[in-house]
Amino acid sequence: MPTPTRGPRPAAPAAVASAETAASQDSALAELAACFPSDFVWGVATSAFQIEGATREGGRGESIWDRFCRQPGAIADGSDGDVACDHYHRLEQDLDLIASLGVGAYRFSISWPRVQPDGSGAWNETGLDFYERLVDGLLARGIAPWPTLNHWDLPQALQDDGGWGALETVNRFVSYARQINRRIGDRCAAIATHNEPWVIAVLGHQQGIFAPGLRRRAMAMQVAHHLLLSHGQALQALRADGCRAALGIVLNLSAVQAASDDAADLAAARLEDARSLRWYCDPLFHGRYPAEVLDELGSDAPWVGPGDMAAIATPMDFLGVNNYSRTVVSAGTPWDPRAQGMPVTDMGWEICPQALTELLLRLRRDYAPQRLLITENGAAFADPLHDGQVHDDDRVRYLHGHIRAVAEANRQGAEVGGYMAWSLMDNFEWASGYAKRFGLVHVDYATQRRTPKRSALWYRSLLQAWRAAPRQGRG
Ligand code: GCO
Repeated sequence: MPTPTRGPRPAAPAAVASAETAASQDSALAELAACFPSDFVWGVATSAFQIEGATREGGRGESIWDRFCRQPGAIADGSDGDVACDHYHRLEQDLDLIASLGVGAYRFSISWPRVQPDGSGAWNETGLDFYERLVDGLLARGIAPWPTLNHWDLPQALQDDGGWGALETVNRFVSYARQINRRIGDRCAAIATHNEPWVIAVLGHQQGIFAPGLRRRAMAMQVAHHLLLSHGQALQALRADGCRAALGIVLNLSAVQAASDDAADLAAARLEDARSLRWYCDPLFHGRYPAEVLDELGSDAPWVGPGDMAAIATPMDFLGVNNYSRTVVSAGTPWDPRAQGMPVTDMGWEICPQALTELLLRLRRDYAPQRLLITENGAAFADPLHDGQVHDDDRVRYLHGHIRAVAEANRQGAEVGGYMAWSLMDNFEWASGYAKRFGLVHVDYATQRRTPKRSALWYRSLLQAWRAAPRQGRG
């Protein structure tokens, strides 16, 4: 009688099975790729403070994030941006890495204190030269540069004079924007003024968990207003200077949903939507702040000068959306996705791609942006490196689900024109330090070795399939 064995599974069926899986994965990828028109912008994103390092080199001035990292307890692992991914010293290698993914666009940010150490006065040629090399290196590789002017690292010298709470910072920002346009504007596909003003205002000036670590609601709301005002004024100045790059802003937005149909939950969700989404989109597209938030703020409402709202509503060429999850609001105990058995990422953020479809359709309906793009979407997972590889299948599923959600939004008329994955590589995740990994490429911080994860290979295959896809009509 034959005894059951625990030997290796027979080779032939396994090989057949894996070939079948690969084939069905290929066809799923081809199907997804074919949903996007040939002028769709595919990219990856990073920001200066999160990857550059070299904080005291090349004439760079101090930023509010350098200062904030030195506050005991501010950063979960006690780290800072001094070395980060050492991108400043590895520019060429990183440009090759970006090109190896097959993307058509790269979203990065310019460190203001690297190009103007004090945020006013002299420009730093070494810093300007670095970004010029970055832009030219991208173009030489056929990749469109998408810089963001302010991804949070304000020069500390400006903070010492009141930071974004001071009207003078608005003037300083406009002159910084004009200088960047003079140096690289002619070679950029698009320029975003600010990244996520809500984060700067609320996390930086109300909750104090991000730089500059302040906790005053009235200050936070003035900061939000000045960020929007400087955006509008910068757009006007750049257009007057003849800038031909598309100009816009990047907002962190999510679909805000009530935890239940309870009247109290519904009202709480409506107010949260007004505070987080409409506070930014209403002035940018309709020239006014939501009345219910102004009422709630009372004397904490920002001071608004004559002409400010018209400047903020200067028509923009694109709206960039950073989206990671949805926001569920309850009037009582805060809603916890884990307690509800929902899948979450390593940040504890719920994975809910359908909410992205809902958000994009709502933005198209309520605001009709000229161009609408996803400027960040991605997920943190633990991502251990085994034998030189990272099998981040959970990230592949996350990206696939969200890109499918964009395709579905487009099928229903959202007209989304681009998608940029956050992030090119693991990097300094702000108050979480280096513990949270968002990269398509793994970074070993001890050696600075970059290893493309399975998700990077998946993204590259998707883009290959997209280039090869048969299309009808547009594109
Ligand atoms: C942001 C920033 C990124 C973050 C990312 C993950 O949007 O918050 O643009 O710098 O790293 O969002 O939290």
